[in-house]
Parts: sequence; structure tokens; C-alpha cells
Amino acid sequence: MKTINTIKEIREIVKEWKSKGFSVGFVPTMGYLHEGHKSLIEKASLENDKVIVSIFVNPTQFGPNEDFEKYPRDLEKDEALCNSAGADLIFAPEVIEMYPEGANTLVDVEGLTEGLCGEKRPGHFRGVCIVVSKLFNIVAPHRAYFGEKDAQQLAVIKRMVKDLNFDIDVKGCPIIREEDGLAKSSRNTYLSAEERIAARVLSRSLRKGKEALSQGERDSDNLKDIILQELHSEPLAKIDYVEIVDSSTLKSIKSIDKPILTAIAVFIGKTRLIDNFTFEP
Ligand code: PAF
Repeated sequence: MKTINTIKEIREIVKEWKSKGFSVGFVPTMGYLHEGHKSLIEKASLENDKVIVSIFVNPTQFGPNEDFEKYPRDLEKDEALCNSAGADLIFAPEVIEMYPEGANTLVDVEGLTEGLCGEKRPGHFRGVCIVVSKLFNIVAPHRAYFGEKDAQQLAVIKRMVKDLNFDIDVKGCPIIREEDGLAKSSRNTYLSAEERIAARVLSRSLRKGKEALSQGERDSDNLKDIILQELHSEPLAKIDYVEIVDSSTLKSIKSIDKPILTAIAVFIGKTRLIDNFTFEP
């Protein structure tokens, strides 16, 4: 398995693979890979002849007060994980390779990006869409794999792929959790030992929500209150949002009579964590 840094090289390799009739799976990441990413790479390698993982901490999706500079990075460890999960190639470009001077094109997906994380992190999804569309054009894969933990990101990318006619099959893959329920995330490494324990409250609150739904609760305000009550029980948790939305439009709903996405974002100390579940009545 090789790591390459230039667009020219990756294009040549993919061209050669495609000329031999190989299918190409793609897993875009920002590195500091964990079991969640591993599951995406493994799925990609089951479904494709060749698998490319990109590792690029994308500056355009971070707000001015966010953690771009301190976002964790460890290429050597990432290479080992990619290798063991069955990747064939890592694409790890420098910022200047992806955004040469004068780069000025924006990609906005309207309608799905105003609420949830989009409201709390203005410009975030624009940055995600810019980099993912560039990566899609560079790698030109047959299939691309994204985690369902970033449920809004997945919905936005699926919309973008449809709207811009990318000939790529976008696949969502289930959330991978720690034993105590915390969704795996590169940002979990920011948590102190005390915060790590407190972070269990995210999955616990969602579990309470799921239980209420399975007992027949169909009012989104009541469901939200149940989740909020659990989150409030943890003194280290500062709630960013708890939203119950239509899973296809991502708009708030009152009565739970169609498929929903229940999504939460919570600060544990300074670390912002997200989690979610979907439910079909
Ligand atoms: O989910 C991520 O890690 C990033 O948002 C992505 C899709 C790699 C774009 O930078």
C-alpha cells in the first residue's frame, strides 16, 4: 500500500486501474483513523477491486474558532490501519495541492444545510461540499463510503451527488461505538478521563429516546424533553442542540408519523460531540 500526495499521480493510478476493468471504492477522511473508519474501508474493500482512502484535514470546513490547527494527526498510525483494513492507496495531499492560490469556487447545498450542525457551524457544509466534490473529481471512484454518525453530512453529500450528476454510488455505513456506547470519533481523544465518562450521556440520552419511541411516544416535543432531561443530568454536558427532523428533508416535525432522524450535539468540556439515530414508525 502506497501513500501519494499529488493529484497528477492519483489520476494516473486510477486511470490505469480503470483501464484494467477494476472497480474503485473511496473513503474520504480527515485522518486520525479509528474503528469507524476501519469499518468503512473494510466495506469498501469487500465491494470494490481497489480502495483509496484520502487523508486531508480540510481547512475550509472549520470555522475561525474551531479546531483546525489542533485537529489530531498521525499519518503513520493511519497508514497501518488502512493497510490492515485492505486499502490499496492513501491520498494525502497538502493544503496547497487541494487549494492552490486563486481557488474561488464554492459548493452550496441549500435546504439541507441550514439546520442542525449547519446552523451551529456556519460555512461547515460548504467546506465539506467543496472538498468532497474536488475529491470526487480527482479520485473518480465508482463508490464512496461515509459514516452515518455524520447523518447530516451524508444527506447533504447524497443531495450534492444527485444535483451535480456525479456518477458515484454514495454508501452510508452504521455508527461504530465504544463498549460503553460512545460513538467513535477522532475528537474523543480530546476528552479527559472525567470527560470521557461524562460523554456516555450522549448515547444514554438517545437510548432513552429510543425506549420512549418503542413504547409508542409519537410527539417530538415529548421525545426531545426525554432526551434533554437525560442530558441535563450530566453536569459536564453543555447542549448545543437536540433536534427531531424528517429524515429526508431534515426539517423539524411535530408528530412522528414518518421516518425521523434524532440528532444531538453536545459539548463535553470544550469538545463538541455528535450522535444520532433514525426511526421509522
Ligand atoms: O467526515 C469527514 O471526515 C469529513 O467531513 C470529510 C467527508 C472527509 C470531508 O473533509
